[in-house]
Order: sequence, then structure tokens, then C-alpha cells
Amino acid sequence: MNYNKKLQLIKKIFIQKKSKNKKFTYPLLTDGYSSSDLQEASKVLLNGRLTMSNITKKFEKYFAKKVGSKYALMVNSGSSANLLALFCLINPYKKNRLKKGDECIVPSLCWSTSLWPIIQAGLSPVFADVNLETFTLDLKNIKKNITKKTKAIMILNVLGNCSELDKIKKFCNKRNIYLIEDSCEALGSKYKNKYLGTFGNFGTFSFYYSHQITSGEGGMIVCNSKQDFNILKSLRAHGWDREINKQNVKDFNFINEGFNLRPLDLTASIGFNQFKRLNKLKSTRAKNRDNLIKSLKLSKKWSNQFSFFNPQKNLDPSWFGFPLMINKNKIKSKKNFLNFLNKNRIETRPIISGNFINQPAIKKYKIKYKRGDLINSQDIEDRGFFIGLPTEILDRSKINKITNLLLNVNNF
Ligand SMILES: Cc1ncc(COP(=O)(O)O)c(C=O)c1O
Repeated sequence: MNYNKKLQLIKKIFIQKKSKNKKFTYPLLTDGYSSSDLQEASKVLLNGRLTMSNITKKFEKYFAKKVGSKYALMVNSGSSANLLALFCLINPYKKNRLKKGDECIVPSLCWSTSLWPIIQAGLSPVFADVNLETFTLDLKNIKKNITKKTKAIMILNVLGNCSELDKIKKFCNKRNIYLIEDSCEALGSKYKNKYLGTFGNFGTFSFYYSHQITSGEGGMIVCNSKQDFNILKSLRAHGWDREINKQNVKDFNFINEGFNLRPLDLTASIGFNQFKRLNKLKSTRAKNRDNLIKSLKLSKKWSNQFSFFNPQKNLDPSWFGFPLMINKNKIKSKKNFLNFLNKNRIETRPIISGNFINQPAIKKYKIKYKRGDLINSQDIEDRGFFIGLPTEILDRSKINKITNLLLNVNNF
């Protein structure tokens, strides 16, 4: 099919009418793609080259510059970015690489693929509790779990929030501990004027559905070491050296072990386009969050039924969702209350995936942990949940509706 015919076809698809569903719904993400996102994606489809052409490289360069990191490498998901970080740390090309059995501290309030790459790389995960204010791993909980074998720390910047990263970084530097910042939920947040994800040796980001930007699937890993960057490039693509030794492009030269974690240009084009308007998305979400909290607190029905997690001091946050904690006396009715919200078309989900030690996979793989030390993570699982925070301004009637439905918690 020639270019013009393809263009006509794409135009025809765009003209299809959107259904006008007037019913109230409050999903985790409302229509994440703008018409310009779709236009950029269409350009890639029309070009015919769907993988690893210029758009991905341009996005990587732009991303690195914007967040203030020397290097950025795009991958097909945030999980892949975490996998690359861990496999880089054990790679034979890396100076001072980690070895089997070295310990990596990880918060028990974590995502599956923040944890598994640690185990897949042969390291021993050590679960630590999180701070109840910020939901993140803080220095106090790190210190409680430090041993002579601690060689890495996996921090999670939960839902745009963070701990005192400058102090954690200093602590790690002093002890030659590698710091990985899983910022899959925190693109665009800045702590002390520095982007989250750029404090550690590696920062990872996700562009999955409902994150700060979304290209469907997609992720990025940033680092400041050229050696690490070269290792990441070879690991991303089969162990090939073709992204590293430009003079070798024609050779099928494999210098490393490898995966295939390459992104599509299609997702790069959408991600890049959204990334350029990240500040706007960020400020809209912040306004929606403020308006929701104001509306709840000003309601006649308000009697501190919920608490909201607190941004770390000196954080310029880029929010992802709207997390809430119900009061302790309502823990038993939480399940019924969330069912009520879902029935009334407010989509809810756990904070990350709750206290990860409760997941069946932990038992199956006989992963060790000390339950008694993970009190806050358990509390966040028991009382916490989150709802969406759209990238378009919520109108008054929608805010009132959400407020009323949330304050129905009184009846449970
Ligand atoms: C903290 C965290 N890390 C990693 C991931 C994985 O990202 P992806 O879904 O892009 O693989 C997620 C996904 O939501 C996440 O929340």
C-alpha cells in the first residue's frame, strides 16, 4: 500500500465517532492519549520502521537532558528497566560488580518487578519497612536492616513521593552501596530541585497505563556512568555490541549475555510527545488533588475519615493517583466500602501491591523475611487504597460526586 493510501486509512479511523457515555465513571485513567499523540504514532506507522530508528534515540537524548542525567536508554517497560539495572550490577564488564548472595534492601511495600530482578540476578533481598507519612523506604528503616553483606538498596519513589534521598545517597556513597531508584511511579517529581530517579546509580521509569505519562507500555533507565550505559545497551539487545561499536554495525558481534527489551518507535513517539507536556499534566493533577482534598475537608460530612499521604518536605511532586487511608476503626469494612465505590463506578486499587510478603509468590519461592518489622507496610495494605487523578481538570459536579461517594464510608 502506498503512503497516501495508508494516510487515508488512518484518517478514516480517526473520524470514527467517540461514544457519548454520559454515565458517571471515575476510572484510574481517562483517555490518556491526545490527538497529537495519535498523530505522532501515525507518522511512525506511515514511515514503516517500527523499531529503533531516530525517534527512540531522540527521545532518549531529550529525556536525559531534561531530567539531568548523562544517559537514558528506552526499554519496553519499567520492569525491564529494573531488570537491566540489576543485571548491570552483576555484569562481568562492571568494575566492583556484585556477586551471588550479596544483600539488596527493598521496601516490603513494593511492586513485583522491583523485587524479582534482585532475586533473578542472584542477590538476596532484605525486606525493610516504609515510612507511614510518605510510604517510602527511609534512612531509619535502611539502617535497621544494614549488614556487612548489604551491597545495594532498591528505593521506590511511591506515587510521586520520596524519602530524604540526599541523605540516603550520602549514606550509600560512604559505604560503597549501589542505589537504584525505582521511579516508575514518580516521573517529573523533584526533590530539592533535582528530579527523582537521578539520585541513585540508576533511575527507572515506567510509561504504563495511568502513570505520569503513558505510551501503553514503555520505560526508561538513566545513569551517569558511560561503562554502565554501554553494558545496559548490550543487555537490552541480545548482548550485541552494535549500539556500542559503531564501526562494527555490520558484524554480528555478541560481547555479553542479553535480553531483547527494545521498545517500539510507536511507543517512543507517544511517550516523547507526552513527555514534552509533562509539566502541564503534572500541574493539572496537582490541582485535581488539591480540589479533592479541599472538597472532602469542607464537606459537612467530614470528620477525618481519611488521611492522605504527605509529600516529603522539599518535594515538588508529580502525582500519579490519589491515595487514601481509611481510619483504623473502619479496617473491617474496607472491602465492602471498596466494593461500593466500584459498583458506583469509582475504580480503586491497592497502594502498589500492598505488603508484598503477603503475596503467594513469596511463599512459593520461600523468600525469607521478618514479618514483625513490617508494621507500616501492613498498615498501608490494611487501610490504604487509591483512586485515579486525571490529567484533565475535574469539574465541580464530578468532584461533588466523588466526595459524596467517598464520605459514604460513614455508613460502613
Ligand atoms: C514501583 C513500580 N515499579 C515497577 C513497575 C513496572 O512497570 P511496568 O508496568 O512498566 O513494567 C511498576 C508498575 O506499575 C511500579 O509501580
